[in-house]
Amino acid sequence: MTPARATTGIVEGVVAVVGQVGRDLVLRVDEVPAAGGSTAVRERREVLGGKGANQAVAAAQLGMSAALVGVVGDDPAGEQVLAQARQDGVDVRRVVRREGATTALLVDVVAGGQRRLLEDASEQVQLTAADVHAATGLLRRAAAVLVQLQQPAEAVSAALRIAREAGRFTVVDGACRDASVRQEVLAAATVLRADAHEAELFCGRALRGADAVLDAARELVGRGPRLVVLEAGAAGNAVAWEGGGELVPLTGVEVVDPTGGGDSFTAALAVALLRGEEVERAARWATAAAGSTVQRLGGRPALSPEELDEQANLLP
Ligand SMILES: Nc1ncnc2c1ncn2[C@@H]1O[C@H](COP(=O)(O)OP(=O)(O)OP(=O)(O)O)[C@@H](O)[C@H]1O
Ligand SMILES: [Mg+2]
Repeated sequence: MTPARATTGIVEGVVAVVGQVGRDLVLRVDEVPAAGGSTAVRERREVLGGKGANQAVAAAQLGMSAALVGVVGDDPAGEQVLAQARQDGVDVRRVVRREGATTALLVDVVAGGQRRLLEDASEQVQLTAADVHAATGLLRRAAAVLVQLQQPAEAVSAALRIAREAGRFTVVDGACRDASVRQEVLAAATVLRADAHEAELFCGRALRGADAVLDAARELVGRGPRLVVLEAGAAGNAVAWEGGGELVPLTGVEVVDPTGGGDSFTAALAVALLRGEEVERAARWATAAAGSTVQRLGGRPALSPEELDEQANLLP
């Protein structure tokens, strides 16, 4: 199945990502101190972050033209993350700058790959429907529209409507709290990816065991998307499409920090499908991308197509 070709006839082109842009402060500590305690930081990184930015950077690293639709503040942090995104080759002309503080995400990672996340995303830097409408031209001509669903419902709805009307190849990641928007998502998405918790929101029930997750993915294909990928814990990811489905195992890597795994997965899946890969191969490429990112501190990817080819070949 090559949804990109089927729906747009385009294989090359811009990957437009609608989602969060912010600054990640990543701190690695041995343990999180209890109230009143303190601990030494072993490693510190301040980088461009946010799910939307991570997906756009991943797409650019995998050889696509990538463009972001998001919001940053008018503070120095906003300037810094935009400069970083430009350096990464991401088109940020549709990132709105608004008075206020740029979203800051503070991740601290304890030994053993567990993380805690503090998020400071003020009202002013939330994506609005108007911000998305201002990017209509970009979304209408994009080879793929990636919508990161943990955004305000009005912005998600606006992006889905534009993409749907233009018949775009639309890849969504996450889940929105608003049930009516989830219906819109199922109607508009070509590809839906969700982690374990988000999968339960889409299905409206608890999913216990990998077989239940695969059944759920098949069920969701029946409700609109042509391809559905749901996280199935240690069993990997349940992948279902019209006429098929399978569980794709994880790579055997040690998880340093799970942050950004889903974002790299989503971007790599979209890129592989745009290139006309078969679903089975695309899912393995995406798994390799997630495996690469979870081995690194923070959500920022460092992907290369060669590495993903190599790692995907190792998967059964
Ligand atoms: N060892 C691994 N190899 C390949 N993929 C992995 C591995 N460990 C985790 N993953 C994948 O990483 C993804 C994590 O998804 P998830 O949506 O939770 O991450 P995220 O959106 O980047 O971060 P957040 O937790 O902030 O939402 C899942 O698809 C999971 O299967
Ligand atoms: Mg996620």
